[in-house]
Amino acid sequence: MAKVIIFLAVQILLLTIVSSTGDDGENFARTIDRKLLGLHRKEKLTHFKVYWHDILSGPNPSSIMIQPPITNSTYFGGINMIDNALTAKVTRNSTLLGQAQGIYAGAAQKELGFLMAMNFAFKRGKYNGSTITILGRNTAMSEVREMPIVGGSGLFRFARGYVEARTKWVDLKTLDATVEYSCYVLHY
Ligand SMILES: *[C@@H]1O[C@H](CO)[C@@H](O)[C@H](O)[C@H]1NC(C)=O
Ligand SMILES: *[C@@H]1O[C@H](CO)[C@@H](O)[C@H](O)[C@H]1NC(C)=O
Ligand SMILES: *[C@@H]1O[C@H](CO)[C@@H](O)[C@H](O)[C@H]1NC(C)=O
Repeated sequence: MAKVIIFLAVQILLLTIVSSTGDDGENFARTIDRKLLGLHRKEKLTHFKVYWHDILSGPNPSSIMIQPPITNSTYFGGINMIDNALTAKVTRNSTLLGQAQGIYAGAAQKELGFLMAMNFAFKRGKYNGSTITILGRNTAMSEVREMPIVGGSGLFRFARGYVEARTKWVDLKTLDATVEYSCYVLHY
């Protein structure tokens, strides 16, 4: 009988400890096994090129100024919202691989220097539904601009890496442009 009482007392004590640590808000996060997310495997390095079409002109622009610049010559203060096509080849009518969705903003007063904040949302093959996020500085007049890949989703979970952007074509009247994005992505 005494043993049963001690057993019950221990059970009640344990229950109290478990529920108090579970509910007090101090222990909301915990370490879990990397294997649960497949993170014990080696990281892969994936490379691909996509062509980014910034279309400001015509009846269906994909890049729209939502805030005009303060300094026209450097576009400082200007903000564009984009939903630009990403294609497999440099021509605009080549295979659509996804969309570049986000904003770019003139962030440099004395040169053309954009803050780029965009997601590449892929729509083809095994990457359909996966994304990478690019956040970086784009001095658009430079031949090559390097920008970080800061994350991703789907097959690109835990992504990091960088892109190299090279302008392939610009219409000097409308400023429509096609830019090659050569992407190097580490992911699992
Ligand atoms: C910038 O250019 C636009 C269009 O040409 C003009 O309306 C605007 O006044 C200019 N802004 C400045 C600050 O010069
Ligand atoms: C795609 O566009 C290029 C020029 O941009 C043109 O030469 C070609 O004929 C077009 N192809 C198709 C299938 O429309
Ligand atoms: C991509 O995935 C969406 C949603 O699952 C589907 O509707 C679409 O057909 C897929 N596209 C391709 C090209 O597989």
